[in-house]
Amino acid sequence: MGEPSVDNMFSTASNKPHSRRKRMLSNVYSKSHIMANEALKAQISTIIYDRFLPYLASTFDDTPPTTTTEQPQTQPGGGGVFNICALLSATTMDIVTGYIFGLNASSNLIDNREELAWFLDLYNSRRSFNFWPQEFPRFTAFVERWMPGYRLSPKWVDEANGEIEKWTADMCERADAQVSSAGAVGGEEKAECVPVVYQQLWKALSKEAKGEEESGGTLSQQLRMSLASEVLDHLAAGFDTSGITLTYIVHELSQHPDIQSRLQKELLTLSPRLVPSSAPAAIPDPKAVDALPVLHAVIWETLRLHSAIPGPQPRFTPAQGCRLGPEEKSYYVPGGVRVSASAGLLHLNEEVYERASEWRPERWLDMDRLDVEKKKDMESRWFWAFGSGGRMCIGSHLAVYQMKYIVAALYSNYSTTIVDDTDIEQSDAYTAPPKSDKLMIKLIKAYT
Ligand code: HEM
Repeated sequence: MGEPSVDNMFSTASNKPHSRRKRMLSNVYSKSHIMANEALKAQISTIIYDRFLPYLASTFDDTPPTTTTEQPQTQPGGGGVFNICALLSATTMDIVTGYIFGLNASSNLIDNREELAWFLDLYNSRRSFNFWPQEFPRFTAFVERWMPGYRLSPKWVDEANGEIEKWTADMCERADAQVSSAGAVGGEEKAECVPVVYQQLWKALSKEAKGEEESGGTLSQQLRMSLASEVLDHLAAGFDTSGITLTYIVHELSQHPDIQSRLQKELLTLSPRLVPSSAPAAIPDPKAVDALPVLHAVIWETLRLHSAIPGPQPRFTPAQGCRLGPEEKSYYVPGGVRVSASAGLLHLNEEVYERASEWRPERWLDMDRLDVEKKKDMESRWFWAFGSGGRMCIGSHLAVYQMKYIVAALYSNYSTTIVDDTDIEQSDAYTAPPKSDKLMIKLIKAYT
Protein backbone atom coordinates (compact mmCIF):
# COMPACT_ATOMS: atom_id res chain seq x y z
CA MET A 1 0.00 0.00 0.00
CA GLY A 2 1.50 3.38 -1.03
CA GLU A 3 5.27 4.00 -0.81
CA PRO A 4 7.42 2.20 0.20
CA SER A 5 5.47 -0.91 -0.74
CA VAL A 6 4.96 -3.69 1.79
CA ASP A 7 3.98 -7.31 1.22
CA ASN A 8 0.87 -8.99 2.52
CA MET A 9 0.05 -12.69 2.88
CA PHE A 10 -1.16 -13.13 -0.69
CA SER A 11 1.76 -11.26 -2.28
CA THR A 12 4.50 -12.91 -0.18
CA ALA A 13 6.26 -15.36 -2.47
CA SER A 14 8.50 -17.23 -0.04
CA ASN A 15 6.87 -19.83 2.11
CA LYS A 16 8.26 -19.03 5.56
CA PRO A 17 7.13 -15.42 5.94
CA HIS A 18 3.91 -16.34 4.16
CA SER A 19 3.00 -19.04 6.67
CA ARG A 20 4.16 -16.86 9.60
CA ARG A 21 1.65 -14.21 8.53
CA LYS A 22 -1.04 -16.81 7.88
CA ARG A 23 -0.61 -18.27 11.36
CA MET A 24 -1.28 -14.83 12.86
CA LEU A 25 -4.77 -14.88 11.41
CA SER A 26 -5.79 -18.49 10.94
CA ASN A 27 -7.55 -18.63 14.31
CA VAL A 28 -9.94 -15.72 13.66
CA TYR A 29 -10.84 -17.18 10.26
CA SER A 30 -11.19 -20.80 11.47
CA LYS A 31 -14.61 -22.43 11.22
CA SER A 32 -14.96 -22.90 14.98
CA HIS A 33 -14.14 -19.22 15.62
CA ILE A 34 -16.47 -17.94 12.88
CA MET A 35 -19.38 -20.12 14.00
CA ALA A 36 -19.09 -19.06 17.64
CA ASN A 37 -18.17 -15.39 17.17
CA GLU A 38 -20.70 -13.09 18.84
CA ALA A 39 -19.39 -9.97 17.07
CA LEU A 40 -19.98 -11.53 13.65
CA LYS A 41 -23.45 -12.74 14.62
CA ALA A 42 -24.40 -9.25 15.83
CA GLN A 43 -22.96 -7.71 12.65
CA ILE A 44 -24.91 -10.10 10.41
CA SER A 45 -28.10 -9.33 12.31
CA THR A 46 -27.70 -5.55 11.85
CA ILE A 47 -26.66 -5.83 8.21
CA ILE A 48 -29.47 -8.23 7.25
CA TYR A 49 -32.31 -6.59 9.19
CA ASP A 50 -31.37 -2.90 9.07
CA ARG A 51 -29.78 -2.70 5.62
CA PHE A 52 -30.21 -5.69 3.27
CA LEU A 53 -33.92 -6.43 3.74
CA PRO A 54 -34.92 -2.71 3.75
CA TYR A 55 -32.96 -2.29 0.48
CA LEU A 56 -34.90 -5.19 -1.08
CA ALA A 57 -38.17 -3.69 0.15
CA SER A 58 -37.18 -0.30 -1.32
CA THR A 59 -37.06 -1.79 -4.82
CA PHE A 60 -40.87 -1.80 -4.70
CA ASP A 61 -40.99 1.98 -4.12
CA ASP A 62 -42.23 3.96 -7.08
CA THR A 63 -40.08 6.94 -6.14
CA PRO A 64 -37.41 7.29 -8.82
CA PRO A 65 -33.78 7.16 -7.67
CA THR A 66 -32.49 10.53 -6.52
CA THR A 67 -28.75 9.99 -6.54
CA THR A 68 -26.92 7.46 -8.68
CA THR A 69 -27.49 4.80 -11.30
CA GLU A 70 -26.63 2.14 -8.75
CA GLN A 71 -29.85 2.80 -6.89
CA PRO A 72 -32.38 -0.03 -7.04
CA GLN A 73 -33.57 0.44 -10.60
CA THR A 74 -37.34 0.40 -10.25
CA GLN A 75 -39.31 0.35 -13.47
CA PRO A 76 -42.78 1.75 -14.10
CA GLY A 77 -45.31 -0.94 -13.27
CA GLY A 78 -42.48 -3.32 -12.44
CA GLY A 79 -41.82 -2.96 -8.70
CA GLY A 80 -39.06 -5.16 -7.36
CA VAL A 81 -36.99 -5.00 -10.56
CA PHE A 82 -33.37 -4.05 -10.05
CA ASN A 83 -29.72 -4.95 -10.70
CA ILE A 84 -28.83 -7.25 -7.84
CA CYS A 85 -25.05 -7.41 -8.51
CA ALA A 86 -24.40 -4.07 -6.84
CA LEU A 87 -26.43 -4.94 -3.75
CA LEU A 88 -24.68 -8.30 -3.35
CA SER A 89 -21.26 -6.61 -3.58
CA ALA A 90 -22.33 -3.98 -1.06
CA THR A 91 -23.58 -6.63 1.37
CA THR A 92 -20.45 -8.77 1.20
CA MET A 93 -18.27 -5.67 1.60
CA ASP A 94 -20.26 -4.52 4.64
CA ILE A 95 -20.02 -7.96 6.26
CA VAL A 96 -16.32 -8.53 5.50
CA THR A 97 -15.29 -5.04 6.63
CA GLY A 98 -17.60 -5.43 9.65
CA TYR A 99 -15.71 -8.54 10.71
CA ILE A 100 -12.33 -6.93 10.03
CA PHE A 101 -12.90 -3.46 11.50
CA GLY A 102 -16.02 -3.71 13.69
CA LEU A 103 -19.37 -2.30 12.62
CA ASN A 104 -18.80 1.32 13.62
CA ALA A 105 -15.50 1.50 11.71
CA SER A 106 -16.56 -0.46 8.63
CA SER A 107 -18.31 0.35 5.35
CA ASN A 108 -22.04 0.86 4.94
CA LEU A 109 -22.28 0.57 1.19
CA ILE A 110 -25.83 -0.81 1.26
CA ASP A 111 -27.21 2.43 2.68
CA ASN A 112 -24.74 4.81 1.02
CA ARG A 113 -25.53 4.15 -2.57
CA GLU A 114 -23.47 6.98 -3.96
CA GLU A 115 -20.44 5.62 -2.15
CA LEU A 116 -21.27 2.16 -3.49
CA ALA A 117 -21.41 3.43 -7.07
CA TRP A 118 -18.14 5.34 -6.54
CA PHE A 119 -16.41 2.29 -5.09
CA LEU A 120 -17.61 -0.22 -7.70
CA ASP A 121 -16.71 2.16 -10.50
CA LEU A 122 -13.16 2.52 -9.16
CA TYR A 123 -12.76 -1.17 -8.37
CA ASN A 124 -14.19 -2.58 -11.60
CA SER A 125 -12.48 -0.09 -13.91
CA ARG A 126 -9.05 -1.34 -12.79
CA ARG A 127 -9.90 -4.99 -13.37
CA SER A 128 -8.64 -5.24 -16.94
CA PHE A 129 -5.27 -3.73 -16.00
CA ASN A 130 -4.23 -6.52 -13.61
CA PHE A 131 -2.37 -8.47 -16.27
CA TRP A 132 1.09 -6.83 -16.23
CA PRO A 133 1.60 -6.40 -12.48
CA GLN A 134 0.19 -9.86 -11.80
CA GLU A 135 1.91 -11.88 -14.53
CA PHE A 136 5.14 -9.87 -14.89
CA PRO A 137 5.66 -8.05 -11.58
CA ARG A 138 9.42 -7.61 -12.02
CA PHE A 139 9.11 -6.35 -15.57
CA THR A 140 6.34 -3.97 -14.48
CA ALA A 141 8.47 -2.65 -11.62
CA PHE A 142 11.44 -2.27 -14.01
CA VAL A 143 9.41 -0.27 -16.53
CA GLU A 144 7.97 1.96 -13.82
CA ARG A 145 11.40 2.58 -12.28
CA TRP A 146 13.62 2.94 -15.35
CA MET A 147 11.41 4.03 -18.22
CA PRO A 148 9.89 7.32 -17.09
CA GLY A 149 6.98 8.38 -19.24
CA TYR A 150 6.31 4.81 -20.42
CA ARG A 151 3.38 3.07 -18.76
CA LEU A 152 1.89 -0.45 -18.92
CA SER A 153 -1.41 0.77 -17.51
CA PRO A 154 -2.97 4.25 -17.56
CA LYS A 155 -2.18 6.70 -14.79
CA TRP A 156 -5.78 6.69 -13.59
CA VAL A 157 -5.38 3.05 -12.54
CA ASP A 158 -2.77 4.18 -9.99
CA GLU A 159 -5.10 6.97 -8.93
CA ALA A 160 -8.02 4.51 -8.53
CA ASN A 161 -5.81 2.22 -6.45
CA GLY A 162 -4.75 5.23 -4.39
CA GLU A 163 -8.38 6.14 -3.67
CA ILE A 164 -9.22 2.58 -2.59
CA GLU A 165 -6.13 2.59 -0.37
CA LYS A 166 -7.21 5.85 1.20
CA TRP A 167 -10.75 4.48 1.74
CA THR A 168 -9.24 1.46 3.51
CA ALA A 169 -6.84 3.64 5.51
CA ASP A 170 -9.81 5.59 6.87
CA MET A 171 -11.39 2.36 8.15
CA CYS A 172 -8.02 1.36 9.64
CA GLU A 173 -7.86 4.67 11.47
CA ARG A 174 -11.33 4.22 12.92
CA ALA A 175 -10.54 0.63 13.96
CA ASP A 176 -7.25 1.84 15.43
CA ALA A 177 -9.13 4.17 17.73
CA GLN A 178 -11.27 1.22 18.77
CA VAL A 179 -8.28 -1.05 19.46
CA SER A 180 -6.36 1.64 21.32
CA SER A 181 -9.35 2.47 23.51
CA ALA A 182 -9.78 0.61 26.76
CA GLY A 183 -13.14 -0.67 25.52
CA ALA A 184 -11.59 -3.13 23.07
CA VAL A 185 -9.44 -4.64 25.78
CA GLY A 186 -12.05 -4.73 28.48
CA GLY A 187 -14.76 -6.04 26.16
CA GLU A 188 -17.16 -3.31 27.33
CA GLU A 189 -18.29 -2.16 23.90
CA LYS A 190 -21.17 -3.58 21.87
CA ALA A 191 -20.29 -6.97 20.37
CA GLU A 192 -20.85 -5.72 16.82
CA CYS A 193 -18.17 -3.04 17.23
CA VAL A 194 -15.30 -5.44 17.97
CA PRO A 195 -12.73 -5.22 15.14
CA VAL A 196 -12.00 -8.95 15.23
CA VAL A 197 -9.42 -9.30 12.44
CA TYR A 198 -7.82 -5.87 12.83
CA GLN A 199 -7.38 -6.32 16.56
CA GLN A 200 -5.83 -9.76 16.16
CA LEU A 201 -3.37 -8.60 13.50
CA TRP A 202 -2.54 -5.46 15.43
CA LYS A 203 -1.60 -7.54 18.48
CA ALA A 204 0.31 -10.15 16.49
CA LEU A 205 2.33 -7.64 14.45
CA SER A 206 3.26 -5.49 17.42
CA LYS A 207 4.19 -8.58 19.41
CA GLU A 208 6.37 -9.87 16.58
CA ALA A 209 8.05 -6.51 16.00
CA LYS A 210 8.79 -5.40 19.52
CA GLY A 211 7.83 -8.11 21.94
CA GLU A 212 5.46 -5.47 23.28
CA GLU A 213 2.56 -6.08 25.57
CA GLU A 214 -0.09 -7.93 23.57
CA SER A 215 -2.25 -4.85 23.52
CA GLY A 216 -1.68 -1.17 24.08
CA GLY A 217 1.22 0.87 22.72
CA THR A 218 1.39 2.29 19.23
CA LEU A 219 2.39 0.79 15.93
CA SER A 220 5.28 2.09 13.83
CA GLN A 221 4.51 3.52 10.40
CA GLN A 222 5.90 0.36 8.80
CA LEU A 223 3.61 -1.87 10.85
CA ARG A 224 0.65 0.33 10.07
CA MET A 225 1.41 -0.10 6.37
CA SER A 226 1.65 -3.89 6.78
CA LEU A 227 -1.64 -3.96 8.62
CA ALA A 228 -3.37 -1.77 6.04
CA SER A 229 -1.96 -3.77 3.14
CA GLU A 230 -3.12 -7.04 4.69
CA VAL A 231 -6.67 -5.91 5.44
CA LEU A 232 -7.02 -4.20 2.06
CA ASP A 233 -6.27 -7.54 0.43
CA HIS A 234 -8.79 -9.35 2.63
CA LEU A 235 -11.61 -6.92 2.00
CA ALA A 236 -11.02 -6.97 -1.75
CA ALA A 237 -10.61 -10.77 -1.88
CA GLY A 238 -13.59 -11.22 0.39
CA PHE A 239 -16.25 -8.96 -1.11
CA ASP A 240 -15.48 -9.56 -4.79
CA THR A 241 -15.42 -13.37 -4.78
CA SER A 242 -18.44 -13.76 -2.51
CA GLY A 243 -20.39 -11.16 -4.52
CA ILE A 244 -19.64 -13.02 -7.78
CA THR A 245 -20.71 -16.38 -6.30
CA LEU A 246 -23.92 -14.88 -4.92
CA THR A 247 -24.77 -13.34 -8.30
CA TYR A 248 -24.54 -16.77 -9.96
CA ILE A 249 -26.54 -18.36 -7.13
CA VAL A 250 -29.38 -15.91 -7.80
CA HIS A 251 -29.03 -16.41 -11.55
CA GLU A 252 -29.19 -20.21 -11.28
CA LEU A 253 -32.01 -20.25 -8.73
CA SER A 254 -34.01 -17.87 -10.92
CA GLN A 255 -33.73 -20.42 -13.75
CA HIS A 256 -34.58 -23.36 -11.49
CA PRO A 257 -37.90 -22.54 -9.75
CA ASP A 258 -38.18 -26.15 -8.52
CA ILE A 259 -34.96 -25.87 -6.54
CA GLN A 260 -35.85 -22.36 -5.44
CA SER A 261 -39.09 -23.59 -3.86
CA ARG A 262 -37.30 -26.56 -2.29
CA LEU A 263 -34.87 -24.09 -0.72
CA GLN A 264 -37.73 -21.89 0.46
CA LYS A 265 -39.42 -24.84 2.12
CA GLU A 266 -36.20 -25.66 3.88
CA LEU A 267 -35.81 -22.06 5.06
CA LEU A 268 -39.23 -22.25 6.74
CA THR A 269 -37.67 -24.65 9.24
CA LEU A 270 -35.32 -21.96 10.61
CA SER A 271 -36.17 -20.58 14.00
CA PRO A 272 -36.40 -17.64 14.12
CA ARG A 273 -37.04 -17.19 10.42
CA LEU A 274 -35.06 -14.52 8.59
CA VAL A 275 -38.02 -12.20 8.08
CA PRO A 276 -38.30 -8.54 9.14
CA SER A 277 -40.94 -9.23 11.77
CA SER A 278 -38.52 -11.26 13.90
CA ALA A 279 -38.10 -9.19 17.03
CA PRO A 280 -35.69 -8.00 18.30
CA ALA A 281 -33.72 -8.65 15.11
CA ALA A 282 -32.88 -12.18 16.17
CA ILE A 283 -31.12 -14.38 13.65
CA PRO A 284 -31.13 -18.17 13.52
CA ASP A 285 -28.13 -19.91 15.01
CA PRO A 286 -25.16 -20.15 12.59
CA LYS A 287 -24.99 -23.90 13.12
CA ALA A 288 -28.64 -24.29 12.12
CA VAL A 289 -28.07 -22.24 8.96
CA ASP A 290 -24.89 -24.16 8.18
CA ALA A 291 -26.67 -27.50 8.50
CA LEU A 292 -29.38 -26.82 5.88
CA PRO A 293 -28.68 -29.37 3.13
CA VAL A 294 -30.35 -27.66 0.15
CA LEU A 295 -28.78 -24.29 0.98
CA HIS A 296 -25.39 -25.98 1.25
CA ALA A 297 -25.88 -27.86 -2.02
CA VAL A 298 -26.89 -24.68 -3.88
CA ILE A 299 -23.78 -22.86 -2.68
CA TRP A 300 -21.41 -25.74 -3.36
CA GLU A 301 -22.76 -26.36 -6.84
CA THR A 302 -22.37 -22.67 -7.70
CA LEU A 303 -18.81 -22.57 -6.34
CA ARG A 304 -18.13 -25.59 -8.57
CA LEU A 305 -19.70 -24.42 -11.81
CA HIS A 306 -19.04 -20.68 -11.49
CA SER A 307 -15.80 -20.47 -9.52
CA ALA A 308 -15.13 -16.83 -8.71
CA ILE A 309 -11.41 -17.52 -9.24
CA PRO A 310 -11.49 -20.02 -12.10
CA GLY A 311 -7.71 -19.94 -12.60
CA PRO A 312 -5.06 -20.40 -13.67
CA GLN A 313 -3.51 -20.26 -10.19
CA PRO A 314 0.25 -20.03 -10.56
CA ARG A 315 2.84 -21.82 -8.41
CA PHE A 316 6.63 -22.27 -8.71
CA THR A 317 8.01 -25.79 -8.49
CA PRO A 318 10.40 -26.31 -5.53
CA ALA A 319 14.17 -25.88 -6.09
CA GLN A 320 14.76 -29.64 -6.30
CA GLY A 321 12.00 -30.04 -8.94
CA CYS A 322 8.99 -32.33 -8.55
CA ARG A 323 6.77 -34.83 -10.31
CA LEU A 324 3.39 -33.63 -11.51
CA GLY A 325 0.35 -35.39 -12.90
CA PRO A 326 -1.49 -38.61 -12.08
CA GLU A 327 0.69 -41.25 -10.41
CA GLU A 328 0.81 -43.62 -13.36
CA LYS A 329 1.57 -40.85 -15.90
CA SER A 330 3.47 -38.31 -13.82
CA TYR A 331 6.38 -36.39 -15.29
CA TYR A 332 9.36 -34.54 -13.83
CA VAL A 333 9.39 -30.73 -13.81
CA PRO A 334 12.66 -28.98 -12.83
CA GLY A 335 12.81 -26.46 -9.99
CA GLY A 336 11.72 -22.82 -10.34
CA VAL A 337 9.26 -23.47 -13.19
CA ARG A 338 5.95 -21.65 -13.09
CA VAL A 339 3.09 -24.12 -13.35
CA SER A 340 -0.60 -23.65 -12.78
CA ALA A 341 -3.92 -25.37 -12.19
CA SER A 342 -7.44 -24.10 -12.84
CA ALA A 343 -10.48 -24.69 -10.65
CA GLY A 344 -12.64 -23.98 -13.68
CA LEU A 345 -11.14 -26.99 -15.49
CA LEU A 346 -10.85 -29.35 -12.50
CA HIS A 347 -14.54 -28.82 -11.80
CA LEU A 348 -15.52 -29.98 -15.27
CA ASN A 349 -14.09 -33.49 -14.88
CA GLU A 350 -16.96 -35.73 -16.01
CA GLU A 351 -15.51 -38.72 -14.14
CA VAL A 352 -15.98 -36.89 -10.85
CA TYR A 353 -18.94 -34.60 -11.58
CA GLU A 354 -21.38 -36.34 -13.94
CA ARG A 355 -23.05 -33.93 -16.40
CA ALA A 356 -20.43 -31.49 -15.19
CA SER A 357 -21.51 -28.54 -17.32
CA GLU A 358 -24.99 -28.56 -15.75
CA TRP A 359 -25.94 -26.80 -12.49
CA ARG A 360 -27.30 -29.70 -10.43
CA PRO A 361 -27.23 -28.99 -6.67
CA GLU A 362 -28.71 -32.43 -6.04
CA ARG A 363 -25.28 -33.95 -6.67
CA TRP A 364 -24.28 -32.57 -3.22
CA LEU A 365 -27.30 -34.04 -1.42
CA ASP A 366 -27.17 -37.41 0.30
CA MET A 367 -23.40 -37.56 0.00
CA ASP A 368 -23.38 -40.38 2.56
CA ARG A 369 -24.75 -42.76 -0.05
CA LEU A 370 -21.45 -42.39 -1.98
CA ASP A 371 -18.38 -44.50 -1.34
CA VAL A 372 -15.57 -42.82 0.56
CA GLU A 373 -13.28 -42.34 -2.45
CA LYS A 374 -15.99 -40.80 -4.63
CA LYS A 375 -16.95 -38.44 -1.80
CA LYS A 376 -13.32 -37.41 -1.35
CA ASP A 377 -12.96 -36.80 -5.09
CA MET A 378 -15.99 -34.53 -5.18
CA GLU A 379 -15.45 -32.66 -1.95
CA SER A 380 -11.71 -32.21 -1.81
CA ARG A 381 -9.47 -33.84 -4.43
CA TRP A 382 -11.15 -32.12 -7.38
CA PHE A 383 -13.00 -29.28 -5.62
CA TRP A 384 -10.76 -26.26 -5.82
CA ALA A 385 -13.00 -23.19 -5.45
CA PHE A 386 -10.92 -22.09 -2.43
CA GLY A 387 -7.64 -23.68 -3.58
CA SER A 388 -5.86 -26.09 -1.23
CA GLY A 389 -2.68 -26.48 0.82
CA GLY A 390 -0.58 -23.67 2.23
CA ARG A 391 -2.02 -21.00 -0.09
CA MET A 392 -5.64 -22.02 0.33
CA CYS A 393 -8.17 -19.23 0.91
CA ILE A 394 -8.00 -18.12 4.53
CA GLY A 395 -11.49 -16.59 4.34
CA SER A 396 -13.41 -19.65 3.08
CA HIS A 397 -15.42 -20.15 6.29
CA LEU A 398 -16.34 -16.47 6.52
CA ALA A 399 -17.30 -16.60 2.84
CA VAL A 400 -19.60 -19.59 3.28
CA TYR A 401 -21.06 -18.18 6.51
CA GLN A 402 -22.00 -14.85 4.94
CA MET A 403 -23.26 -16.36 1.67
CA LYS A 404 -25.55 -18.74 3.58
CA TYR A 405 -27.12 -15.90 5.59
CA ILE A 406 -27.54 -13.66 2.53
CA VAL A 407 -29.16 -16.38 0.39
CA ALA A 408 -31.31 -17.46 3.35
CA ALA A 409 -32.49 -13.87 3.96
CA LEU A 410 -33.26 -13.24 0.28
CA TYR A 411 -35.24 -16.46 -0.31
CA SER A 412 -36.98 -16.41 3.09
CA ASN A 413 -38.71 -13.26 1.85
CA TYR A 414 -38.78 -13.36 -1.95
CA SER A 415 -38.72 -15.48 -5.07
CA THR A 416 -36.64 -14.24 -8.00
CA THR A 417 -36.99 -14.33 -11.77
CA ILE A 418 -34.64 -13.00 -14.44
CA VAL A 419 -35.50 -9.76 -16.24
CA ASP A 420 -32.26 -9.26 -18.16
CA ASP A 421 -29.15 -11.43 -18.02
CA THR A 422 -27.38 -10.16 -21.12
CA ASP A 423 -23.62 -10.88 -20.90
CA ILE A 424 -23.93 -12.91 -17.74
CA GLU A 425 -21.01 -15.12 -18.88
CA GLN A 426 -18.00 -14.91 -16.60
CA SER A 427 -15.24 -12.55 -17.70
CA ASP A 428 -11.84 -13.94 -18.56
CA ALA A 429 -10.09 -12.39 -15.57
CA TYR A 430 -8.46 -13.43 -12.28
CA THR A 431 -11.69 -12.92 -10.39
CA ALA A 432 -14.42 -13.58 -12.91
CA PRO A 433 -17.64 -11.53 -12.53
CA PRO A 434 -20.36 -11.39 -15.20
CA LYS A 435 -19.08 -9.55 -18.30
CA SER A 436 -21.90 -7.02 -17.86
CA ASP A 437 -21.40 -6.54 -14.08
CA LYS A 438 -25.17 -6.66 -14.07
CA LEU A 439 -28.08 -9.03 -13.42
CA MET A 440 -31.55 -7.53 -13.61
CA ILE A 441 -34.00 -9.57 -11.57
CA LYS A 442 -37.55 -9.24 -10.37
CA LEU A 443 -38.44 -9.92 -6.76
CA ILE A 444 -41.75 -11.53 -5.95
CA LYS A 445 -42.83 -11.44 -2.33
CA ALA A 446 -42.73 -15.04 -1.18
CA TYR A 447 -44.83 -14.84 1.97
CA THR A 448 -47.09 -12.14 3.32
C1 HEM B 1 -16.67 -17.23 -2.41
C2 HEM B 1 -15.73 -16.59 -1.78
C3 HEM B 1 -14.26 -16.83 -1.97
C4 HEM B 1 -13.60 -17.55 -2.93
C5 HEM B 1 -14.20 -18.36 -4.08
C6 HEM B 1 -12.18 -17.43 -2.64
C7 HEM B 1 -11.19 -18.06 -3.37
C8 HEM B 1 -9.85 -18.01 -3.06
C9 HEM B 1 -8.82 -18.78 -3.72
C10 HEM B 1 -9.05 -19.75 -4.88
C11 HEM B 1 -7.65 -18.47 -3.13
C12 HEM B 1 -6.29 -19.10 -3.42
C13 HEM B 1 -5.44 -18.33 -4.32
C14 HEM B 1 -4.18 -19.14 -4.63
O1 HEM B 1 -4.23 -20.36 -4.69
O2 HEM B 1 -3.15 -18.52 -4.82
C15 HEM B 1 -7.90 -17.48 -2.11
C16 HEM B 1 -6.94 -16.91 -1.30
C17 HEM B 1 -7.21 -15.95 -0.37
N1 HEM B 1 -8.46 -15.51 0.04
FE1 HEM B 1 -10.24 -16.15 -0.66
N2 HEM B 1 -12.01 -16.61 -1.56
C18 HEM B 1 -13.25 -16.23 -1.10
C19 HEM B 1 -13.53 -15.42 0.00
C20 HEM B 1 -12.58 -14.84 0.80
C21 HEM B 1 -12.86 -14.04 1.97
C22 HEM B 1 -14.27 -13.75 2.55
C23 HEM B 1 -11.65 -13.59 2.44
C24 HEM B 1 -11.30 -12.74 3.64
C25 HEM B 1 -12.06 -11.97 4.28
C26 HEM B 1 -10.62 -14.13 1.57
C27 HEM B 1 -9.26 -13.91 1.72
C28 HEM B 1 -8.29 -14.56 1.02
C29 HEM B 1 -6.86 -14.37 1.25
C30 HEM B 1 -6.23 -13.40 2.24
C31 HEM B 1 -6.20 -15.24 0.39
C32 HEM B 1 -4.69 -15.45 0.27
C33 HEM B 1 -4.31 -16.66 1.12
C34 HEM B 1 -2.84 -16.97 1.08
O3 HEM B 1 -2.09 -16.32 0.34
O4 HEM B 1 -2.42 -17.89 1.78
N3 HEM B 1 -11.21 -14.88 0.61
N4 HEM B 1 -9.26 -17.23 -2.08
